[in-house]
Amino acid sequence: MQQYPQHKQRVIIYTAKSMVLLSLLFVCVGLIYISTHFMSRPLTHKGFSPPISTLPNSNSSAGFAALPEKTAAWTAPQESSIPPGALGDSIRYGRELIANTAKYFGPQGKIARISNGMNCQNCHLNAGTKPFANNYAIFFANYPKKGARSGKTDQVTDRISDCFQRSLNGKMPDKTGKEVRSMVAYFKWVGQRVQKGEKVGGTATAKLAHLDRPADPAKGLLVYKEHCQSCHGADGAGQKAKDQLTYLYPPLWGTNSYNDGAGMYRLSNFAGFVKNNMPYGIDHNNPVLEDEEAWDVAAYVNSRPRPHRAQEKDYPDLAKKPIDAPYGPYPDHFSELQHKYGPFKPIVEFGKSTTASMGITRGRQGDHRGQTGG
Ligand code: HEC
Ligand code: HEC
Repeated sequence: MQQYPQHKQRVIIYTAKSMVLLSLLFVCVGLIYISTHFMSRPLTHKGFSPPISTLPNSNSSAGFAALPEKTAAWTAPQESSIPPGALGDSIRYGRELIANTAKYFGPQGKIARISNGMNCQNCHLNAGTKPFANNYAIFFANYPKKGARSGKTDQVTDRISDCFQRSLNGKMPDKTGKEVRSMVAYFKWVGQRVQKGEKVGGTATAKLAHLDRPADPAKGLLVYKEHCQSCHGADGAGQKAKDQLTYLYPPLWGTNSYNDGAGMYRLSNFAGFVKNNMPYGIDHNNPVLEDEEAWDVAAYVNSRPRPHRAQEKDYPDLAKKPIDAPYGPYPDHFSELQHKYGPFKPIVEFGKSTTASMGITRGRQGDHRGQTGG
């Protein structure tokens, strides 16, 4: 066997050592690159492009395998994962109630006539499974929780009741009845993979950047005529489906629409929803409206007449009131009109300066969400 001279051996050992070190270096640099570029990527709606399914049961999480779990857009569980037996039946019935609420609880509802004819799904698209369409991803995991609007600890059923009373301008069905229990079973099933407090992509609606001016109903009317009227109607009353029980195109204002205590009556919620979901058929990957148009059409629709709800008791802690809550009192000097239409930046700035001068670090923010819709 051939023996290397001593100095040659040293050279070989040295080269081997450097190669090991060098490859370690590469691995480190690679890891740092991956962590800065993918792990901490902000959860903006431009940050990812999930495949959007049109049906809740055709969702698949396969497309996100390469993305770190926390930043991937949430997808609903597969329908095939609904368990067999009584629980499965309950989950399916719950989903049916969300998709076709009016058949059961609308003006001609077969269980009770306690709401305006809208379906939960009209705003919680695809039975609450679509990204940036008020989906139910994080709902179940985070309740019970302290509600800013109620000022108390809200149970899951309190939150459901909010949407019945405000968005459906009606009454809550029996909280202990089969229907509500089935809706809760559905919410639990839909949100089963989400942990309390977990950040998930694509929940609620997107928050659009604030304009420097007030949102303008007159400009919004032009947007409405061009992009919305064909379905929702010149009078905003929508159009009933053939069965006359639910809406083909739901109303945007008037007697059968959400009342002025609803989440959609806040401009930020409306604009964010519409930007990523309307005209019907689009999603956050291919919006049609500019942000400005979304704000203006929100101003137009929410300046039209609709049912009123007394809401003096909402937000007992004024510091927790969202800046675009349309009714006073407020913890600042800005008018009701400015709180409804903007400009919002001065209100945000004022909120920051007062909380800072009071030594509060976590105070009023630009937009609260979560506890406020319905
Ligand atoms: C092609 C028809 C169509 C067009 C155009 C359209 N929508 Fe809709 N919109 C719908 C349908 C259908 C729903 C209900 C979706 C569901 O139930 O799955 C809906 C739901 C809504 C909702 C939530 C439910 C409600 O009635 O409050 C809002 C708000 C809304 N649309 C606003 C708009 C705005 C603003 C525009 C114009 C930028 C617009 N839509 C354009 C069909 C349309
Ligand atoms: C007119 C539109 C609209 C309709 C119709 C509607 N909702 Fe909502 N809902 C909202 C908005 C807006 C929010 C607030 C979303 C947010 O800020 O997270 C919300 C929030 C919720 C939440 C809390 C979600 C969370 O993650 O905290 C639940 C639960 C809910 N709605 C259930 C229902 C049910 C059940 C119905 C039917 C009985 C219904 N909604 C009908 C607009 C609507």
